[in-house]
Formats: sequence, C-alpha cells, structure tokens
Amino acid sequence: MHNNKQLYLPKMGCGTWAWGNRLLWGYDESMDGELQAAFNLCVSNGVTLFDTGDSYGTGKFNGRSEQLLGQFSQQYQGANKDNICIATKLAAYPWRLTRQSMVSAGKASASRLGKNIDLVQMHWSTANYAPWQESALLDGLGDLYDRGLVKGVGLSNYGPKRLKWVHKKLGDRHVPIVTLQVQYSLLSTYPVTELGLKEVCDELGIKLIAYSPLALGLLTGKYSENGSFPKGIRGLACQQLLPGMRSLLECLREIAAARNKTVSQVALNWCICKDTIPIPGAKSARQAGENIGALGWNLDAGEIAELDKAAASADKKMVQNIFQTK
Ligand SMILES: NC(=O)c1ccc[n+]([C@@H]2O[C@H](COP(=O)([O-])OP(=O)(O)OC[C@H]3O[C@@H](n4cnc5c(N)ncnc54)[C@H](OP(=O)(O)O)[C@@H]3O)[C@@H](O)[C@H]2O)c1
Repeated sequence: MHNNKQLYLPKMGCGTWAWGNRLLWGYDESMDGELQAAFNLCVSNGVTLFDTGDSYGTGKFNGRSEQLLGQFSQQYQGANKDNICIATKLAAYPWRLTRQSMVSAGKASASRLGKNIDLVQMHWSTANYAPWQESALLDGLGDLYDRGLVKGVGLSNYGPKRLKWVHKKLGDRHVPIVTLQVQYSLLSTYPVTELGLKEVCDELGIKLIAYSPLALGLLTGKYSENGSFPKGIRGLACQQLLPGMRSLLECLREIAAARNKTVSQVALNWCICKDTIPIPGAKSARQAGENIGALGWNLDAGEIAELDKAAASADKKMVQNIFQTK
C-alpha cells in the first residue's frame, strides 16, 4: 500500500511557522500574496520541502498554514512541481489519546492541504511528561503509512534514546522513519554535539532536518546590540544572546564578505555542510530569495572549523525546546 519511495527531500526546505501564528508572529491575510510569492520562488529554485504543523495557526487562523500551503501547491504550475513535499507535524495534544485520533488528525490535515500529506511527523514526544500516551499516537502514524495516506513518517524533538525506541517500535511493523527535525544552528548545536544525534540518525538511515536554523533571525546579522529588538521571545533572545555572540557574528561576516554571500546564507550553508536540511522560516519573497542563495556552493573545511570554534565560544545558546527528549 505504501509509496514511500516517491518522497523527495531537497538540500534545503522552507519553514512556515510564521504563516499562522498571528499573536506571536504578526500574521494577517494581507501577507498571503507575499507568502505565495515566497513559495513560488522556493519551488522554482528547487526548495521543495515545506514544513508546517496542524498546530500552526491560532484562533481564527487555526489550520491556516496547512490551508495556504495546500492552495499554493495546487496553484503552482512551474518547474519542480512534482517534487513539492509538504511535511506536516501532528501535535501530541493531551486529548489525542488513541491511534485513531492520530489517523483522524492526519485526515484533517490532508483535508486542509487538499491532498494527502507527503511527510507526516510526530510533533513532539510525550516522554518528558506523559510517556504512556505516546505509543498509541505512534501506532496511529504507522496506520497512516500502512493505509497509503502518507508517503513517509518523521519525528520531531526526539533525542537518541527515545529515537531508538521509536525506531524499533515502528520498525517491528516495517514503518521506516525518514526524518527527524530538531533545533539545530550555530547557536543550537546541542542535539548534535551533546546528544550525538547525527551519528545515531546516520546509523538508522534517518535524515536530520534543522529547524530554526537562523536562530529566529539572530544569525541573519540584522540585529545589533544597540538597535531595536523585535517583540516577544525573539526580543528576549536578542537581549540574552547578542552580547555573547560577537565573535560568532564577526566570523560569519568575514566569511560572508570573502565569499560574496550574506550572513544568513553562510549560517544556512553551515547546516547543509553538516549534512542536515535547514528549513528557515521566510516571510517574504526577499527573505526566501536570500535563503535560496545558501544553495549551490559549499563552505570549505577551514571555514566550517572556524565557525564551529566561534559557535562553541558563544557564552549563551538558544534555549532548547521543552519537549526535546534525550
Ligand atoms: N519541530 C518544532 O518543534 C519546530 C519549532 C520551531 C520551528 N520549527 C520549524 O522551523 C521553521 C523555521 O524556524 P523559525 O521560524 O523558528 O526560525 P528561523 O528559521 O531560524 O528564523 C526565521 C525568522 O528569521 C527571519 N528571516 C528568515 N530569513 C531571513 C532573511 N533572509 N533575512 C532576514 N530575516 C530572515 C524571519 O523573521 P522576521 O522577518 O520576522 O524578522 C523569520 O521568521 C518554522 O517555520 C517551522 O516550520 C519547528
């Protein structure tokens, strides 16, 4: 029944958190034209993986991110159309307790997308607070795969120990795990350097997706210690992290200047060189266009080593997702 082989994963994707979360990110419908332009530009340039979630969107914008992606992918008629891969994440809400609840959630996402989900991901593990809840939800993901309703199954915010457990559980019923997404950037190396996730993923044949690869914008170089900060958690992150990341920004700027690239492009290329798929969130065609410029070239070993060193010297790092497991 399953058709997993049709799943195409490009070198870089595009995140869409910002497309639904009005309270946190200032979304409103007037942005839709710009978001569609960003989508079209990405796909025509081979950035065909789009990450979303059934929890992306609040209040009246509930489900909006999936709906927009569905509309955009149906209306798109240019190059690489067949490679579009919509990856959604199903939330482990406390009221989702049975395997059928995950199957229903998958069907609801598919209905918002107007087509079957390409890659369905467990948004987070419940291991840190309700470990008993998770097994049934994973069974539901496996059911979606077995019934041919999704092309692939992925995970999000899992550490190596829990990942191995899920790999065995789904493997026993021949459901492969294709991807794992974690917060990974020059300011969030923890999943790889401390948890050792890359080795484990390589061993299990799982592709690592790097979410928040620009550290919410901090790695674009657009914020300065004396400038004005954005509202909310991003402003807080600026306040806390900018003073300790001067040498990292300097290193990024030097490499960017030498290569005639931008700071964002260098930060994203670093993720690609670490053999992960970054999914930067882009709110405009301009941002998407800049991020696409991270493709088609590679930092050399010396530059990667310099960036690694500068990243290790940053005195504060991004706070890890509370759901990230060991
Ligand atoms: N699995 C999970 O639990 C999880 C958690 C978080 C995120 N994610 C996924 O990862 C995606 C990306 O993460 P993120 O949005 O948190 O962080 P990010 O990609 O590190 O940062 C995105 C923000 O940076 C700014 N930006 C992007 N490109 C830019 C450019 N070229 N120049 C200047 N500014 C630029 C935009 O903000 P402004 O324009 O507002 O400045 C954008 O909203 C999300 O969309 C989501 O799909 C997954």
